[in-house]
Amino acid sequence: MIEITDLKRLYHMGNVEVRALDGVTLNIEKGEFLGIMGASGSGKTTLLHLLGLLDAPTSGRIMIDGLDVLSLTDYEKTMFRLYKLGYVFQDYALVPDLTMMENVALPAMLRKDRSEEQVKNDSFWILQRIGLCDRRDHLPRELSGGQQQRVSIARAMVNRPDILFADEPCANLDSENSKMVLELFHEINEEMKQTIIMVSHEDWHKEYFHRIVRLKDGKVTSDGKNHSAH
Ligand SMILES: Nc1ncnc2c1ncn2[C@@H]1O[C@H](COP(=O)(O)OP(=O)(O)O)[C@@H](O)[C@H]1O
Ligand SMILES: [Mg+2]
Repeated sequence: MIEITDLKRLYHMGNVEVRALDGVTLNIEKGEFLGIMGASGSGKTTLLHLLGLLDAPTSGRIMIDGLDVLSLTDYEKTMFRLYKLGYVFQDYALVPDLTMMENVALPAMLRKDRSEEQVKNDSFWILQRIGLCDRRDHLPRELSGGQQQRVSIARAMVNRPDILFADEPCANLDSENSKMVLELFHEINEEMKQTIIMVSHEDWHKEYFHRIVRLKDGKVTSDGKNHSAH
C-alpha cells in the first residue's frame, strides 16, 4: 500500500551537505507493524516525517494506495493527513490546557464530518479502550508519562487512520510503561488492522515488530520479517 522509491532528503549546512536520507526504496504492506531501527542520526525521523507528509523530500517518490502523495497541493496534503494518517510523538504533544477527553476529541472535531455527539462517543470509546476513561476530565499534567502517551495514542486513533506513525513513542518511558504502550500498538494493529510504522532504537522493542527495517547513514542496511513477533 505504501511504495517508496529512491527517497532522498538532503540538508545544506553552509558548505556541508548532510544526506539525512540517501536513496531509500521500500514497500510497506497494509496492516504491517513495521519497526524502523537504527542509531541516532541514521535518518529514522526524516523518513517518518516524509512518509507522514510533514516534510518534503529532495527527490524520490511516495505512493500511498496508488496515490502520488507528493504531487498533492498543501491543502490536499492537510486533508490526507487528517483523514488517513495518525501521529504519536516522543513527547506526547498533548494540549496542556485541555482535558484528556478534549485532547482526544480534537482531531475528530477538525474533520467537521461528524456531529458533536458522535465525536463525544468516539472519544469516549477510545479512552475506554485504552483504560483511561476515568481520567477523561483530568489535565495532561495530572497523569503519568505512560498515561499521557496512551492518551496521545487514543488521539491519533480517534479518526481511525489507515496508517499510524510513531517516532520513538517510548523514549521518555520506563520499561514497564514502554511495554504497555507497545502492547497497545500491538492490540490496535490486531483489532483494527491499522498499518503501524514505529521508529525505535531500543533493541528489545523489535520483538513486537512484524518486520524490521534498519537504517544507517540514510540508507537501508537490512530489511526482514520478524518471525518471532508477538
Ligand atoms: N533540519 C535539519 N537540518 C540539518 N540537518 C538535519 C536536520 N534534520 C536532520 N538532520 C540531520 O540528518 C541526519 C538524520 O537525522 P534524523 O532523521 O533526525 O535521525 P534519527 O531520527 O535517526 O536520529 C542527522 O545527521 C541529522 O543531523
Ligand atoms: Mg529521531
